[in-house]
Amino acid sequence: MQGLQIENLEKNYNDVRVVHGLNLTVAEGEMVALLGPSGCGKSTTLRMVAGFVEPSGGRILLNGTDISGMPAYKRDTGMVFQSYALFPHMTVAANVAFGLEMRRVPKSERPARVAAALDMVRMSKLADRMPRQLSGGQQQRVALARALAVNPALLLLDEPLSNLDAKLRGEVQHEIRTLQQRLGLTTLIVTHDQEEALVMADRLVIMEGGRIRQAGTPRELYEEPSDIFVAGFVGRCNLIEGESQGGGWFRTANGALLPCIDTAPALKPAMLAVRPEHINIDNENAKGIPARVAGAAYLGSQIEYRVDISGTTLTVMRNNATTGEQVLPVNTAITLNWPTTAARVLPRQ
Ligand SMILES: Nc1ncnc2c1ncn2[C@@H]1O[C@H](COP(=O)(O)OP(=O)(O)O)[C@@H](O)[C@H]1O
Ligand SMILES: [Mg+2]
Repeated sequence: MQGLQIENLEKNYNDVRVVHGLNLTVAEGEMVALLGPSGCGKSTTLRMVAGFVEPSGGRILLNGTDISGMPAYKRDTGMVFQSYALFPHMTVAANVAFGLEMRRVPKSERPARVAAALDMVRMSKLADRMPRQLSGGQQQRVALARALAVNPALLLLDEPLSNLDAKLRGEVQHEIRTLQQRLGLTTLIVTHDQEEALVMADRLVIMEGGRIRQAGTPRELYEEPSDIFVAGFVGRCNLIEGESQGGGWFRTANGALLPCIDTAPALKPAMLAVRPEHINIDNENAKGIPARVAGAAYLGSQIEYRVDISGTTLTVMRNNATTGEQVLPVNTAITLNWPTTAARVLPRQ
């Protein structure tokens, strides 16, 4: 089978298990993001794939070959680290050539390969610069060129953009994604930044505590999270404590009765999950949920409300679609509603 397959991968450090029986695949040409909070085992997993950390158990197959015991330099992988890890005393071109030298690419082939890799990341003009003469974004593009020059079967990216400022990060995310799709690169990226994962990856694998919580497309994870960890980690979500009564009703811990998806079975204790942008403020709707504005923030493209329903506070995001939309003052009495399918019932953990 082509692509990457990870089977029952485990890692223990001094009897502490930090990666638990991990199973995941990256299809040929696919980009998968390992997403989770700091310390959940993302980098350890990636380093085991790269060959920098020895697994305590399980197998790693790349294009059908078990590479679990292979030294890093023999694996057909290219890796980009969080810190640019360029050699400061070498030019851009020499940094990129270094990877080729390590892989024993014949000297005569190297200049053309270096030029091609720098061209891919639009850094050809700066080939003779030293790393200190480059911005953070440029340095990270060189690091990417160095990983790509070896023409790897698998590209591994460990938080490659977290040292860049927010605006630049957004640009480079799109650049890498476009390049990955154009070249059909099989890629595994590690990040703790959910937006980065959503922008860049075909599929996301959500990790917590060394285990996979859920894997799926961005849409699947956002719209059908299987637990409250995933619901809260991918996008923003109101999580309301209470119990599902079945038949499309949920009773909050404070006693309010809220509509929910009618296929949800009775469940106690449970959490109701509603995305802030799915909540409508509609004072004309007599059947709405009575609420009160507890806070409001004008964010330009959106208005963020904190609303109170009988002692339960929710976040509501409204698009500022029509210019000059007025922000409702604190304490305004309002009624809320949401499509019942947007209110999912999840087990309380
Ligand atoms: N070399 C090591 N020795 C001991 N513990 C480690 C080592 N590397 C990582 N860990 C521990 O393993 C866990 C996972 O770390 P890591 O994979 O770096 O997480 P992430 O990349 O998701 O932030 C953490 O608890 C970390 O402290
Ligand atoms: Mg890490």
